[in-house]
Amino acid sequence: MCGIVGYIGYREAQPIIVKGLKRLEYRGYDSAGIALFDGKEINVTKTKGKVSDLEEKILNGNNTSGTIGIGHTRWATHGIPNDVNSHPHYSNSGDLVIIHNGIIENYATIKQELENRGYVFQSDTDTEVLVNLIEDVQKNGNFKLGKAVQVALNQVIGAYAIAVFDLKKPNEIIAARLGSPLAIGVGEGEFFIASDASPFIEYTNNAIYLEDEEMAIIRLHKDTKIRNITNDRLVSPYVQELKLNLEEIEKGGYEHFMLKEIFEQPEAIKDTYRGRLNVSKGIIKMAGVEDHLETFLNAQKITIVACGTSWHAGLVAEYVFEKLARIPVEVEYASEFRYRNPVISNKDVVIAISQSGETADTLAAIKLAKENGAFVFGVCNVVGSSISRETHSGAYTHAGPEIGVASTKAFTTQITLLTLIALRLAKAKGTLSNSDYKRYLVELETIPSKVEEVLEADKLTKMIGEIYKDASNFLYLGRGFNFPVALEGALKLKEISYIHAEGYPAAEMKHGPIALIDENMPIVVIATKYGHYEKIVSNIQEIKSRKGKIIGIVTKGDTQVKSIADHIIEVPESSELLSPLLTTIPLQLLSYYIAILLNKNVDQPRNLAKSVTVE
Ligand code: AGP
Ligand code: GLU
Repeated sequence: MCGIVGYIGYREAQPIIVKGLKRLEYRGYDSAGIALFDGKEINVTKTKGKVSDLEEKILNGNNTSGTIGIGHTRWATHGIPNDVNSHPHYSNSGDLVIIHNGIIENYATIKQELENRGYVFQSDTDTEVLVNLIEDVQKNGNFKLGKAVQVALNQVIGAYAIAVFDLKKPNEIIAARLGSPLAIGVGEGEFFIASDASPFIEYTNNAIYLEDEEMAIIRLHKDTKIRNITNDRLVSPYVQELKLNLEEIEKGGYEHFMLKEIFEQPEAIKDTYRGRLNVSKGIIKMAGVEDHLETFLNAQKITIVACGTSWHAGLVAEYVFEKLARIPVEVEYASEFRYRNPVISNKDVVIAISQSGETADTLAAIKLAKENGAFVFGVCNVVGSSISRETHSGAYTHAGPEIGVASTKAFTTQITLLTLIALRLAKAKGTLSNSDYKRYLVELETIPSKVEEVLEADKLTKMIGEIYKDASNFLYLGRGFNFPVALEGALKLKEISYIHAEGYPAAEMKHGPIALIDENMPIVVIATKYGHYEKIVSNIQEIKSRKGKIIGIVTKGDTQVKSIADHIIEVPESSELLSPLLTTIPLQLLSYYIAILLNKNVDQPRNLAKSVTVE
């Protein structure tokens, strides 16, 4: 959520920061701003809107030079998105300037105390309170900036990633984090600060990832000092070599990141099982699972915690784990789990699923599970992310960067990875016959080419989108393994086209949603060959009798649904267990095309953020 970019060095900071902010646009935001020190003063330019609006404002102004600066994309939590509430924020003296990602929960009390001492505030943000608290501490204690930031941060409750600098000491930037990610790029005679490494990848491969409760004092021509904010201990910086490739984070010829990521799924799924699945030897190997195999096998239950699309992948995994490994599984919204005193003990395994690895609720759920003694396993995409560090063990999906706010390849690769784990456990437990085990292994390897085949329905899906783009409601129905796919299809449509959509288990339709069906209601029904086919056909008949418009996702060669449905999209034949990896694809494409036809911003839908780092 929101983005932070900072620079201190010998180059002009402004182009580096603006380009960096553009790379972070995927995180979701509503305003943008920059502060630059030109040798005499700090100049702030900020605006509601996009980074391109900021660029225009910079072009029309004349405060654009400086070799030290900080920039921000804001996703409003306190105060509406407008120019004044945008970051950076000055302190009352005008000496300090700050950017902040996160929430200061006790800002109201601190603001009141500062106001009592004569401070005045321009904005409604919690961030402006923080910068003035730092100033107040600095003045009262006669502290250097680093110390003042540390003392102030010890007084706040909440989550933050911040970068702050001082007009009186323009050769240093202080950065700190608690709950929101922050990386420092270490170059030759220059440093970069950013929410992830993408803004500085062409300048340096060396990065330090700040841990929670750490602050960095970044000074020109000096080594960066890292300190624990609470216990004041110096921490020796761990400089990591990055393998991120610039091409990977660009659009590669596609009109949108989302479309690129949909089409990347055959490769992404391969990348998930590459090196882990050996079909000829009949082996599945993942170090993170092997090292804790006994813990998994002795688990009295597995609880999956996640949010959004990752939660849907968890629901698919529930069906997969229970069928293959016969281990009871519960799937919980991380945001509910964290606040409801769940029954979890050291006999439980908790699996946290998160593309970004930064989702605040999922992180909090992990902490709670650990406090209760559970073994926590992470399924993340972003390497080095907070969740991957916070969990006892884990496995990466290796899907490559997912930039589009609407998750696509993250979903299918999460399902792939979780299926591998379930198969490994089933083999160890003996809950699956050898022949079935082998059959799934062989089939898993055929999935990427089958996904490629489904992607050929691209044009057909666009055509169907054209017909239904003006509908105000959609229903998505599926059963068994494909019920979570129906939920995911509905979420995709809501997220990027802003059309209301609901996902339901097909049989539940009679218990309520059927009342909504009339000739204006498009209903997407997943009706593949294996898994309750006859039952679903009956459900489709019921829809037909009420004049609903049916878009069937069917197995190639299907005749029965074809004869009743208004449209069909075919997917290659597969087992029911692996079918979600195929049936999801046309639903992603359908939402994409409807959103495009409606002229919506698919990569950055309104109000949404890529990583939700606030609760
Ligand atoms: C997916 O399209 C969403 N934008 C959202 O639901 C997302 O899946 C959710 O916020 C969880 O994110 P995570 O996987 O990075 O934890
Ligand atoms: N809480 C801050 C604000 O509302 C920062 C929000 C963000 O993370 O962008 O301005």
